[in-house]
Amino acid sequence: MTIEAKLEQLQRLRDEAEQGGGPDRIAAQHAKGKLTARERIDLLVDPGSFVEFDRFVVHRATDFGLADQRPLGDGVVTGYGRVDGRLVYVFSQDFTVFGGSLAEAHAQKICKIMDLAVRNGAPVIGLNDSGGARIQEGVVSLGGYADIFFRNTRASGVVPQISAILGPCAGGAVYSPAITDFTFMVRGVSYMFVTGPNVVKTVTHEDVTSDELGGADVHGGTSGVAQFVLDSEVECLAEIRRLVGFLPGNNVDSPPRRTATDPADRRDEALLAVVPDNPNKPYDMHEVIRRVVDDGELLEVHRDYGQNLIVGFARLGGHPVGIIANQPAVLAGVLDIKASRKGARFVRFCDAFNIPLVTFEDVPGFLPGLEQEHGGIIVHGAKLLFAYAEASVPKLTVITARLTAARMTS
Ligand code: HXC
Repeated sequence: MTIEAKLEQLQRLRDEAEQGGGPDRIAAQHAKGKLTARERIDLLVDPGSFVEFDRFVVHRATDFGLADQRPLGDGVVTGYGRVDGRLVYVFSQDFTVFGGSLAEAHAQKICKIMDLAVRNGAPVIGLNDSGGARIQEGVVSLGGYADIFFRNTRASGVVPQISAILGPCAGGAVYSPAITDFTFMVRGVSYMFVTGPNVVKTVTHEDVTSDELGGADVHGGTSGVAQFVLDSEVECLAEIRRLVGFLPGNNVDSPPRRTATDPADRRDEALLAVVPDNPNKPYDMHEVIRRVVDDGELLEVHRDYGQNLIVGFARLGGHPVGIIANQPAVLAGVLDIKASRKGARFVRFCDAFNIPLVTFEDVPGFLPGLEQEHGGIIVHGAKLLFAYAEASVPKLTVITARLTAARMTS
């Protein structure tokens, strides 16, 4: 074969790989209002920066008719790219190929980029759109999940791990995102559940829709499984880029500093009025935070979950900081189970990745009551205490509470 013929053959294979499950399935994906695996990567990373690995990998299964179906890439696009010029490793499951289901070769591709991310000290971003374990490959598929869970766990606290759920995510597919640091979901597109509505109906006789069981708002507000909920895939991928902008590549790097345009020594007179004189009058702690941090920018994490505590990323003098703040406008800023879990997880993440903590404090204490005690407020509250005590990053606390004599002595 001549070199020209070889190059032509390579191009043909590349074109075939680009097609994933074929034009009809790509059209079906678009008809559901969803982007393809490659379109998502294009939106996530800097233009022209993506370098793909293992584009021609195929599975080696033969049962259940798989011998005749060997799509190039095996249902996942993997590689590395740049976000604002900084290295990230990415996998993006292709729902047009066997429903993005995970099996041996698919899992090996994901494991390879996870290993490289740890070795090179860069975040891993997983774009999940998968029907779970590939049924035809049976237990081998489950082994693939085990390999990924193991790597998620070992990489935890070493490199940032971010998951976006961009389609159904059932069975084993939910547990890798749950081990990662941040989960993003999109309204009307993302679903996460261990077992879907049909299984729930069979086992517990409950009638639920996919949205009620594991839609974006359920996980963003009720369960707390998702830290970010967006209205579209485009917004979701842009928000992931924004998050990466606050994070170091790994646990020995410093978080990325930006040139500050907001003077660090400015004085904001409005702060004098934000906190009311009357300690029984609520106020919105967001207002305090916005007036203090650079350009009023706060990337709020878990915005709709445990709203009596605000956590998120901001910058001071161009340096990323983690903000934790009681929110007097919700439940008087009391600490309950949700707020404690939310705060503890955030503090531990910041501590692992060298992000200093700034706490705005105005808290009446832990929430009393039967429900809280029976839910284990003691252990969940302890997680928050443990996280703060363990954190070795700089910690700065601003007490905004208007302490009356009565409160100071109580
Ligand atoms: C193989 C799968 C698949 C899977 C979907 N497909 N899931 N192929 N293994 N797990 C294929 C379908 O056969 C179909 O192929 C194509 O993907 C698109 O699927 P549809 O059903 O047409 O799409 P949709 O209607 O959008 O429904 C999506 C879905 C549904 C909700 C994900 O496909 C579904 O319920 N899939 C099975 C989910 C499941 O039971 N997974 C295993 C979980 S067990 P064609 O050729 O028709 O296009 C598990 C255990 C892990 O994960 C434990 C680890 C600890």
